[in-house]
Amino acid sequence: MSEARPPKTAVERLAAFAGTDLEDLCDAAEDAIKAGGGFGWLAAPPRHIMEAYWRGVLLVPERNLFVGRLDDTICGSAQLARPPRNNEAQSFAAQLTSNFIAPWARGHGLAKRIVLAVEEAARAAGFDILNLDVRATQEAAIQLYESLGYRRWGVHPAYARVAGVTLPGYFYYKRLAGEDAAER
Ligand SMILES: CC(C)(COP(=O)(O)OP(=O)(O)OC[C@H]1O[C@@H](n2cnc3c(N)ncnc32)[C@H](O)[C@@H]1OP(=O)(O)O)[C@@H](O)C(=O)NCCC(=O)NCCS
Repeated sequence: MSEARPPKTAVERLAAFAGTDLEDLCDAAEDAIKAGGGFGWLAAPPRHIMEAYWRGVLLVPERNLFVGRLDDTICGSAQLARPPRNNEAQSFAAQLTSNFIAPWARGHGLAKRIVLAVEEAARAAGFDILNLDVRATQEAAIQLYESLGYRRWGVHPAYARVAGVTLPGYFYYKRLAGEDAAER
């Protein structure tokens, strides 16, 4: 009898959609939204809106898309967002946003690898700080970020509203180049 093999996992920066990538990314995002963790979306939008959203992400010059694959199928993503050029005072700080993994692909370490890939890209682009924020109810994400050394610096008491309930949110940062880098 043959043993079940572990699934193949991969994380990469995606500059263009190939094959079924766009469809798979839409499917994964819809699954995550239905499970209650949809980076802002509370209900899955019509497919053409979702497709336009992802195509838009690839077109925005200040954004990079990172995806995770389980057995070659895209199952989640995150984005690195750089500050706009006019924001010279915050040109040392980038944002990690829209991080999710479809429920069926969780627990394989993909979210962690995606965050590390975003950090690496931000570091390589010369950023000293990575900022992110998360709903206070997203316990897995909070655990993930805190285990990777993100520091919670603030709580917003009215961060999101879900089904009429206003929820707090947590704000985090991580110094990418060591403790003193941000004070240069
Ligand atoms: C948060 C999320 C992205 C994690 O995805 P994942 O691929 O399952 O995470 P990983 O397998 O990479 O886990 C890495 C670490 O995250 C934490 N973690 C992941 N799932 C967890 C859970 N259910 N409970 C507690 N901690 C969890 C752990 O610290 C874990 O490390 P460990 O396995 O060494 O204990 C996923 O649960 C998700 O999409 N949630 C909804 C969307 C969301 O909250 N996004 C964040 C918005 S900023």
